[in-house]
Amino acid sequence: MRGIGYGGDYNPEQWPESTWAEDVGLMAEAGVNLVTVGVFSWSRLQPAPGELSAGWLDRVLGLLAAAGIGVDLATGTASPPPWLAAEHPEILPVTADGRRLAPGARQHYCPSSPVFRAAAVDLAERMARRYAGHPALTMWHVSNEYGCHIPACYCQTSAAAFRDWLQARYGSLDELNDSWGGAVWSQVYTSWEQIQPPRTAPTYANPAQQLDFARFSSGELLSCFLAERAVLAAHSPGVPVTTNFMGLFRPVDQFRWAPELDVVSVDSYPDPADPESYLLSAMACDLTRSVARLAGTPGQPWVLMEQAPSAVNWRPVNAPKAPGQYRGLSLQAVARGSDAILSFQWRAAAAGAEKFHSGMLPHAGTDSRVWREVTGLGADLGRLAPVAGTPVRAPVALLHDWESWWGLELDSHPARLHLVELLGEFYRPLFEAGVTADFAHTEGDLTGYRLVVVPALYLVSDAGADNVRRFAAAGGTVLVSFFSGIVDPRDRIRLGGYPAPWQDLLGLRVEEFAPLPEGAVVRLDGAAGAGPASGTCRLWQDVIGLRGAEPVLRYASGHLAGQPAATRHPYGAGEACYLGTLPDRSTLRGLLAEACGRAGVEFRTDVPPGVEMVRRGDYRFVISHLDTPADIDLGGRSHDLLSAEHVGPRVVLGPRGVLVLGPLG
Ligand code: GLA
Ligand code: GLA
Repeated sequence: MRGIGYGGDYNPEQWPESTWAEDVGLMAEAGVNLVTVGVFSWSRLQPAPGELSAGWLDRVLGLLAAAGIGVDLATGTASPPPWLAAEHPEILPVTADGRRLAPGARQHYCPSSPVFRAAAVDLAERMARRYAGHPALTMWHVSNEYGCHIPACYCQTSAAAFRDWLQARYGSLDELNDSWGGAVWSQVYTSWEQIQPPRTAPTYANPAQQLDFARFSSGELLSCFLAERAVLAAHSPGVPVTTNFMGLFRPVDQFRWAPELDVVSVDSYPDPADPESYLLSAMACDLTRSVARLAGTPGQPWVLMEQAPSAVNWRPVNAPKAPGQYRGLSLQAVARGSDAILSFQWRAAAAGAEKFHSGMLPHAGTDSRVWREVTGLGADLGRLAPVAGTPVRAPVALLHDWESWWGLELDSHPARLHLVELLGEFYRPLFEAGVTADFAHTEGDLTGYRLVVVPALYLVSDAGADNVRRFAAAGGTVLVSFFSGIVDPRDRIRLGGYPAPWQDLLGLRVEEFAPLPEGAVVRLDGAAGAGPASGTCRLWQDVIGLRGAEPVLRYASGHLAGQPAATRHPYGAGEACYLGTLPDRSTLRGLLAEACGRAGVEFRTDVPPGVEMVRRGDYRFVISHLDTPADIDLGGRSHDLLSAEHVGPRVVLGPRGVLVLGPLG
């Protein structure tokens, strides 16, 4: 594709054929050049086992090809047709408490079911044979949102597959019993057949078993993807293959999946009613860009596969997007590396479970705010063609690891921590200061970053721990938070005080955890003139013994008053900071500003909160997510690609206004 892709899910099978020509005409009017077709078409494509009944799809693809609109063609396997579930009820998923779920919605399949997999591969292969050389085929879209609705299945077939997976992982029962801590609560297995998925039990299921089941379940979904991918690659070599991820979605380990994708894509549905929804969507963009790096060459562009043009239908209350919000969040994705902006869905449905979900073409038709915004965005994206394909370079990385996430949020812990919330706390001040951050895998390549933030990285491998240490030794700045480096990949405590693998790096030892109850706040004081003067903290307190680190903040109330809360320690050519608590937002901002300052990362303090500044390639995006005007210092006069005018050095950006400045030197 040239330029930025634009479009959405197109479900023509929901409409009489007489509307299709109108669809294609309106797509041209809106600047649409890429649509996703066939995501939920299985029962229309294969009304019975065997041949495809795809005459309708031939005609749809023909119309799109004639209009020069590319197609992200789905394999259609996300929602098995009624005949498959009726003939083979064993494909239906089973919940942790043993209930087999009924068909009649979507995604009602057990990922380990050989019957389901064979049927899905059969459909994918028929699609690949028929459409391999089609002029509209731009990329393949395998299944849909793997793990959505059904992240794991607990049926007997899954249990048997889990046992095979465990046998391959551990080799012997002794090894498994040792890894899982079988001696605790009398859980020593004497035959593989005794092992089950972590079904609903009287109290906490074995945490290592839960962790392994999360690994297994992500892997089973990946196997489904790979099976379809193999037949697509065989019949249409060179056509890129994607599947749409869901951003910070726990069940699917995107870092592990990434090398198997040609194009990484994401669905992003921030809540328009959340005044800071742009933060969560920005994190999803940065995560997806980071995953895309692992899929291919660094800086590889990615695709915003789905977002809502306005409201969704699946929250208790579904606010529409504010005027300009669809544009702002779309351009945010472009700023953060996306080369295509798609929505769910093209034409708002008239029937079914999503009939109150917004569409690019709303029920009201073209005389509507949404349609005017849709055509407006199409024109904007056309102007942004020079940005397509250019990289985003981030000086900061947040370390992230799905295995650690699964471990962190297990039950039976000192306190319930929620990774996405914690990531958000560290991400917010960086975002507000115009600092772009990647998400890097613990064992990933950290060269090129100046600051690495390690938020609650509960589980770390030896290689991951060494990676962080090497980064600091080589001159990097590291900021590690509480409850990091606690267990190894088997979820066994790393003994000797916390965080055992990083005590030398941090110059301290945590002896005990003192999590704080909801609502409790402890005062903080700056120590030795360094760091922010004062503030408060919440959620967690570490009891820290200094072993070379210098305190930056101390607790100033409660039974830990006077003891260190945040520290700093030189290490090799770099420096390692530690945070034993969660400071209030302004204190955390101060700490990050200092860390950035010492790491040589520009940390702006003059950007109004709610305004986003991101550099991509030769362009600087300035995006206001505010409903009020924002006064901004651009530091000079620049050309704005969207308005084709020169602006600055000061501008008053209107509500939800956007500038794309450049090309910069
Ligand atoms: C109960 C049980 C013990 C242990 C403790 C933990 O008392 O009998 O086995 O689980 O709770 O608080
Ligand atoms: C998900 C699905 C789509 C649609 C949207 C609605 O992203 O992939 O099929 O259901 O949600 O928001």
